[in-house]
Amino acid sequence: PRIYIPGDSGALSLGAEKVAKAIATELAERGIEAKIVRNGSRGAYFLEPMVEVATANGRVAYGPVKTSDVKSLFDSGFLTGGHHKRWLGSPDKIPFLAKQTRLTFARCGINDPLSLDAYKALGGLKGLQNAVAMAPIEVVSQVTASGLRGRGGAGFPTGIKWKTVLDATADKKYIVCNADEGDSATFADRMIMEGDPFVLIEGMAIAGVATGATKGFVYIRSEYPHAVAMMRKAVDVARKAGVLGLNVLGSPNAFDMEIRVGAGAYVCGEETSLLNSLEGKRGVVRAKPPLPAIQGLFGKPTVINNVISLASVPIIMDKGAAFYKDFGMGRSRGTIPIQIAGNVKFGGLFEAAFGMTLGEIVDDIGGGTATGRPVKAVQVGGPLGAYFPRALFNTPFDYEAFAAKDGLIGHAGITVFDDTADMLKQARFAMEFCAIESCGKCTPCRIGSTRGVETIDKIASGVEPEKNIALVTDLCNTMKFGSLCALGGFTPYPVMSALNHFREDFKPAPVAEAAE
Ligand code: NAI
Ligand code: SF4
Repeated sequence: PRIYIPGDSGALSLGAEKVAKAIATELAERGIEAKIVRNGSRGAYFLEPMVEVATANGRVAYGPVKTSDVKSLFDSGFLTGGHHKRWLGSPDKIPFLAKQTRLTFARCGINDPLSLDAYKALGGLKGLQNAVAMAPIEVVSQVTASGLRGRGGAGFPTGIKWKTVLDATADKKYIVCNADEGDSATFADRMIMEGDPFVLIEGMAIAGVATGATKGFVYIRSEYPHAVAMMRKAVDVARKAGVLGLNVLGSPNAFDMEIRVGAGAYVCGEETSLLNSLEGKRGVVRAKPPLPAIQGLFGKPTVINNVISLASVPIIMDKGAAFYKDFGMGRSRGTIPIQIAGNVKFGGLFEAAFGMTLGEIVDDIGGGTATGRPVKAVQVGGPLGAYFPRALFNTPFDYEAFAAKDGLIGHAGITVFDDTADMLKQARFAMEFCAIESCGKCTPCRIGSTRGVETIDKIASGVEPEKNIALVTDLCNTMKFGSLCALGGFTPYPVMSALNHFREDFKPAPVAEAAE
């Protein structure tokens, strides 16, 4: 028999390593020969560690498995799919997974992430094979026609970015993958790097073939050691198999790549700051123009894309632009891996076509709060995203629909808060976060964020609240329009949404008044 136990950092943090050891010990004690495969996670983290067994009738899942469950699992005959209190049945039928549309994450968490044969058996490398047989402009046209937009948050059309790099003439071009996933609630980049690293490698190779870039870098945040290790191993496997190298899949295209590790600064996820960091400089934001597509890494034309943007390209090049474009709504085409976290019952990654409402995501898929209390607010798009109240739960998950409500999808992380959350504190946190993470290059962000914290503190202690609320509003306006990058420019989203939707929290505490 084969037993699958996830080895990705999400599952590990929930105890997967101890469970794997307990299962290995139990196998030895009972004299059973079985192969333990360390797969990635399928993303239903509320069920991790989720152990699967390959039976004659397909895979059977159990979860969340604790070490104390292991003996009774064996006693219940779990190696042949026997019933047990942790029995979940076929993983494909678990509602959280069955309701998804898995395109980018189609293979994630199913097999050994480093088995290229398993990758190919599930359709891997077909996209790259098609790409090397096409002219670069045809590949770029396919990506443009698919409607794919940057999944890091800005939603810029990927094909247009690639076209700019293709059209630039230079002796050297680069593909840089932004894996500095720093947003609260987000883990899609990490999950795919640890669960299906070849899909990112394939996407990067396609980007190289499409634009004439011969070298790629993946910039991974230092907080992701498992992803770094997995990507390094996967690049080695891909190189040995001829997926990377002087002749990509036997074609005349050369493309190779390297993994680089950041030092842990949120602002290094901003593309120009990331480039500085990659070049060994301090991670300070560069003014644009020039766009990285024209003058990027070491001054050369550079494609910078988020992990998920690049990992979504193989399926487009395999199944075609029309197939991908068919999913979604409006100008948001294809699927998006929504990451549901915070105070939520069913936390995990949910890949779906654009267009589900926020309410469906939080209430139906996420199951409401873990505490069982009413949902008060959800922050969408990381620490720079807006707080949405229940009144906005009918907003469809779509770039333009969120922008119309003064919010953003960002990297599609959702943090859920119950009714005990104090939104003044959250607004203060946004300003404080900006002050701590600011690269210091421009005044509205560097100074404004510190003044923002002070002014919110005045509101909290009842010092001229109306005047200070007006001051914060004015400050947010200056930061929004006067900052050089999204860190200072987007901090107003959480602050102003907290102020606009939860004004009752911006009154001084009545208890404090009585005490005076
Ligand atoms: P942006 O709108 O300035 O640029 C978007 C992208 O398009 C950039 O790569 C830019 O170089 C490129 N671009 C623009 N015009 C182009 C052209 N004509 N040809 C080729 N390329 C072109 O947005 P920015 O500052 O890159 O990103 C802001 C976003 O980052 C926010 O929306 C936020 O959601 C997101 N973000 C994501 C985080 C994460 O952890 N994933 C963390 C913080 C923010
Ligand atoms: Fe640096 Fe903040 Fe200005 Fe961005 S907005 S360039 S992080 S000081």
